[in-house]
Amino acid sequence: MNIFCRRLAILVCLSVTSLATAQSSDIAARPPMGWNSWNHFKHQVNDAAVRAQAEAMVSSGMRDAGYTYINIDDTWEGGRDADGKIQTNSKFPDMKALADFVHSKGLKLGIYSSPGAKTCAKFEGSYGHEVQDAQTYAAWGIDYLKYDLCGLNEVMKAAPSPEAAHQIMFDAYVKMRDALRSTGRPIVYSLCQYGNDAVWEWGASVGGNLWRTTGDISDKYAKMAEIGFGQAGLARFAGPGHWNDPDMLEVGNGGMNNEEYKTHMSLWAILAAPLLAGNDLSKMTPETLAILTNREVIAVDQDAAGKQGDRVSAEGPIEVWAKPLADGSKAVGIFNRHHLPLTAHVDFRLLGYASGAKARDLWLDKDLGKIGPEYSVKIPSHGVVMLRVTQ
Ligand code: GLA
Repeated sequence: MNIFCRRLAILVCLSVTSLATAQSSDIAARPPMGWNSWNHFKHQVNDAAVRAQAEAMVSSGMRDAGYTYINIDDTWEGGRDADGKIQTNSKFPDMKALADFVHSKGLKLGIYSSPGAKTCAKFEGSYGHEVQDAQTYAAWGIDYLKYDLCGLNEVMKAAPSPEAAHQIMFDAYVKMRDALRSTGRPIVYSLCQYGNDAVWEWGASVGGNLWRTTGDISDKYAKMAEIGFGQAGLARFAGPGHWNDPDMLEVGNGGMNNEEYKTHMSLWAILAAPLLAGNDLSKMTPETLAILTNREVIAVDQDAAGKQGDRVSAEGPIEVWAKPLADGSKAVGIFNRHHLPLTAHVDFRLLGYASGAKARDLWLDKDLGKIGPEYSVKIPSHGVVMLRVTQ
């Protein structure tokens, strides 16, 4: 081998190595932001709807507020051709062309599959075709994969013990991680197995950039609150490149009022959760858009320190949550889970501000000056006061 060839070999080797490590370290340095089809469209998602979402993400200003991924959930899959290559069904005539369109808008495209033979909606899964599917996604220009356990449950049920079942799931997630890495394309890897087996403890080790910590959300305050407030204690498992995922947003889908949607958005931001809008972006009210694009709330979610917030106190239905931010300030959410308005009495000493703090109200867009150390504020039913506070 002459010296040029040797140098080339080293370069190739180096770039392959850096592509391989890119999968978990460089991807999703901040919680992914975007849109997903499931919550609103379910089986009705198709090429035209996805294009309309991409267009609306740009024209509404959501892209400029940080939303990037347009994620197609379940029901896009056709069967396989004679070589085993996954096909789209008639709702998606040309996935590569769709990816090109989404990319032309400065956005990224996500897709969905299962480690099982079938997806949750009984479409074709990736079982036995992991490498081939990853190659197909990369060739189409896919940037994000949600990998949903569902169909693998059948295989896991036949395992001789819970430990063996866990190993089957673990290995299946590793298999797709390696398949994605071998494409050389940076693809966000989103695990969806509903928080089973304390996924937060091992999700990062199978290459997950995010992992669902819960079952499915629905567009109801009770379900959203059960999931969101149920995230207490999980903060230490999240960080840049590997996030807890309490499921997609329901903001704007109509089942909650705007106070409840502000609670949803505030809590997800404090949790450093992925912000994947789940409504029809082409038909948003100004209030929905304002909730989804509140820059200061988004900045809490996307903060460079990458620290998930946690519960500081609970006094009956009043809960105080806080998230430490890179500039030394804190985001503080004061939540009222009661069905009537309540006055919250918050002790800022518990938040580390012995003589009170300088505060800004992020939903009122208003500087409050110095508050506390004992601070009382009236909060609407199921509502929130979201503050950014400094010494
Ligand atoms: C599961 C997931 C949902 C969605 C559906 C699609 O229920 O948890 O988020 O992806 O499957 O079938």
